[in-house]
Amino acid sequence: MTQTPSPRPFHHPQPGSALHCGKVSLETLARRYGTPLYVYSAEQIAERLNLFQQALAGRSHLVCYAVKANSALAILKLLADRGAGFDIVSGGELERVLAAAPEAAGRVVFSGVGKTAAEIDLALTAGILEFNVESEAELALLAARARKLKRSARFALRVNPDVFADTHPYISTGLREHKFGIDIRQALGIYKSAAGNRWLEAHGVSVHIGSQIRSAQPFGKAMERVGKLVAQLKHEGIELKCVDAGGGLGIDYHGGAFDAAAKVAEYAAAIQGALANFDGRLLIEPGRFLVAQAGALVARVLTVKRNGKKTFVITDAAMNDLIRPALYQAHHEIVPVRPRPGRPRVVDVVGPVCESGDFFARDRKLAHVEPGDLVALLDAGAYGMAQSSNYNTRMRPAEVLVEGARARLIRRRETMADLLAPEIL
Ligand code: LLP
Repeated sequence: MTQTPSPRPFHHPQPGSALHCGKVSLETLARRYGTPLYVYSAEQIAERLNLFQQALAGRSHLVCYAVKANSALAILKLLADRGAGFDIVSGGELERVLAAAPEAAGRVVFSGVGKTAAEIDLALTAGILEFNVESEAELALLAARARKLKRSARFALRVNPDVFADTHPYISTGLREHKFGIDIRQALGIYKSAAGNRWLEAHGVSVHIGSQIRSAQPFGKAMERVGKLVAQLKHEGIELKCVDAGGGLGIDYHGGAFDAAAKVAEYAAAIQGALANFDGRLLIEPGRFLVAQAGALVARVLTVKRNGKKTFVITDAAMNDLIRPALYQAHHEIVPVRPRPGRPRVVDVVGPVCESGDFFARDRKLAHVEPGDLVALLDAGAYGMAQSSNYNTRMRPAEVLVEGARARLIRRRETMADLLAPEIL
């Protein structure tokens, strides 16, 4: 299937004009809603979901968006309306799905290494599709809660396939040394021992090897190991309905030409190739790939200052708004919203937070900017707002969703009253 890659959602309609998200100028949005401001393109998110759905169209499947990447209610609703399911890792994320799209409860899978009894009860009551269970102890807890609530629990063991994925060590999860999943060699025994429990239904098997993985190869390798397990289980009379391949497909943060359709096709082929003998339902849990490139963080330059040999561009956004550079040395392209004449300079782009780790870019060649200018930090739609905090008593940004020619506020800027509300003097 060939599909022309659509233009990036953030673009200059004419040379010299302001950066736009779709048809909407970021200058207009900054004026209307202030900065720092997260701006997302609904069109791009829908398009990305569609790429996965099309790539898996030949078989029974469900794309379960990883809510942790960006849990804005409006984005969850947009995805649910287009048939997506959800991968959650907390009771809180389930509450979000139920608030945004209660009809999607049956399309939810619950991952995560430490589920509490209260979270399990909430999910059992909501009637989610599947619990991705990460240890024998968790399976015992799930069985106990299911018995108590008299609701049978569909489970998948999240197996650890011991596959190396080339990504940042903080977001790699598929090796035996990581805290995630159950050693794939033990899985068969656990499925067998669960078979006698009337409150547990062996529904599937799941895997997730890490995040921001650019090559399709490790996904295929993990799936081969999972495929073998599925066949062994079948041989033992345990027939699974679902295989969940997890998330993790990476994007290009460096602004190069990026053919998302080709990436998805390659990824889907690697997974499906390894599962040729399984005719049940295939689940995937993409997060970043759906939302990262649909979002930008718009910030205003407060000051440009020199310290010794270095030039610092200080913006009103900081590490509390977007922590990825500080936490993973992640790269985000930074572009002026309205380019101006002047030579590019090598600068550090930093926020006002009192930490040297509060930077967005170091020794980066940046187009000329002056105090008062707007800049956009690109590819910030995933793990941006979702990982934001109130550090330094900073109000978290507002969020805007651009739908066609319209932009609407989907989360207002926090106020000081919001921040003080839970506190007791
Ligand atoms: N499924 C499970 C079980 C996961 O743990 C994750 C992500 C996903 C799916 C979605 O992965 P994705 O398709 O988004 O790569 N904060 C880091 C990323 C942490 C990923 C954690 N798990 C970052 O900003 O790069």
